Amino acid sequence: MSEKIKIICVCGARPNFMKIAPVMRAFNDHGGFEALLVHTGQHYDENMSKLFFNELGIPKPDINLEVGSGSHAVQTAEIMKKFEPVALDYKPDYVLVVGDVNSTIACGLVAVKLGVKLIHVEAGLRSFDRTMPEEINRVLTDTISDLLFVTEQSGIENLKNEGVNSDKVHFVGNVMIDTLLANKEKAEKSRVLNDLSLEKGKYGAITLHRPSNVDDMARFNEIISSFEYIQKEMKLVFPIHPRTRNNLKGTDLGRRLEQMENMLLIDPIGYLDFLWLMSNSAFVITDSGGIQEETTILGVPCMTLRENTERPVTITEGTNRLVHVAAEDIVKNYCEIRDSEKSSGRNVPKFWDGKAAERIATIIAGQDTRKGKHRNSKSEKCF
Ligand code: UD1
Repeated sequence: MSEKIKIICVCGARPNFMKIAPVMRAFNDHGGFEALLVHTGQHYDENMSKLFFNELGIPKPDINLEVGSGSHAVQTAEIMKKFEPVALDYKPDYVLVVGDVNSTIACGLVAVKLGVKLIHVEAGLRSFDRTMPEEINRVLTDTISDLLFVTEQSGIENLKNEGVNSDKVHFVGNVMIDTLLANKEKAEKSRVLNDLSLEKGKYGAITLHRPSNVDDMARFNEIISSFEYIQKEMKLVFPIHPRTRNNLKGTDLGRRLEQMENMLLIDPIGYLDFLWLMSNSAFVITDSGGIQEETTILGVPCMTLRENTERPVTITEGTNRLVHVAAEDIVKNYCEIRDSEKSSGRNVPKFWDGKAAERIATIIAGQDTRKGKHRNSKSEKCF
């Protein structure tokens, strides 16, 4: 048996890459780990995947399963079929998964069925909306995990309410914020504002990809109508996710979007450019999970076009607000933000300090009880 802890780290979709980067770095710095990086290939476009590896200094994946797109069943099944032989061959002590995408649950299921211990980073978040594919992925992954690393207090409470044994749960903070803090300075070199002729504070940034908004044309129509109003007085920049772009192709909504004079439609951009774009924007409109957290740290007002959030700390302590998906409500919230004084004195959520991945490495090393080994290390117990 190797002296080092053998661990397979899994990533697959864009929001996974910012989470896995600091974790891989922490394992490397710790020295007690032998980590294999597996990319499932759920996201595969150059600007949805490879660009992030280069910018964030993530090691080239040891294995790419190249599953690509498909229905939920097909994508999940393909990942499982292709991940099982990798796990059998490598014989890891642990499999570590992050977030809530199909790659997370697919590799998690393979691990536990092979008797390999499963670690979930970003555990315990709940929107309590079971129509969201991500909510199903979160609940199921947490149920089968052996070690659960939590980003905010609500996660601890949710897991407690679901009867998860407290010994498995550790409040470590937010690895996505580790990445943001590590890259803030680098992002200042971005040329994105020059390239797009944008002025600090004089535009709003938009991201939308959630099926509940962009697959449902009635709701999407409400959103587009609100943009028609807002862009008359404030420039909008919209890097379009492939799902959203596909849905708009050849539709009336797509044409209305293209006809807006003050709307900049662009392809998805890299991490550093997007971080700089957000940092300098007057506000962000989104339905993403991670962006709610990033705007909280950046102090930029964020309108989340959803009825719920699995990240309530971004509302209670951050700059986020939930906005009902109706044109009138979106415009009303935009006007409130436009007319409000820039807020100061925000709270930084507990442990969102750039050291979450380091805590994760220390705790895993401390918990490792493989044959003949008992590593001593403090772990942060939480309930
Ligand atoms: C996935 C995650 C979601 C995450 C989002 C971030 C699940 C269930 N959803 O949603 O939680 O917030 O990623 O981006 O795992 N496509 C491309 N190029 C790519 C990737 C996707 O063209 O590089 C197209 C696919 O062909 C598909 C669509 O985009 O038609 C959706 O991709 P998919 O991975 O199924 O889910 P996302 O909507 O990206």
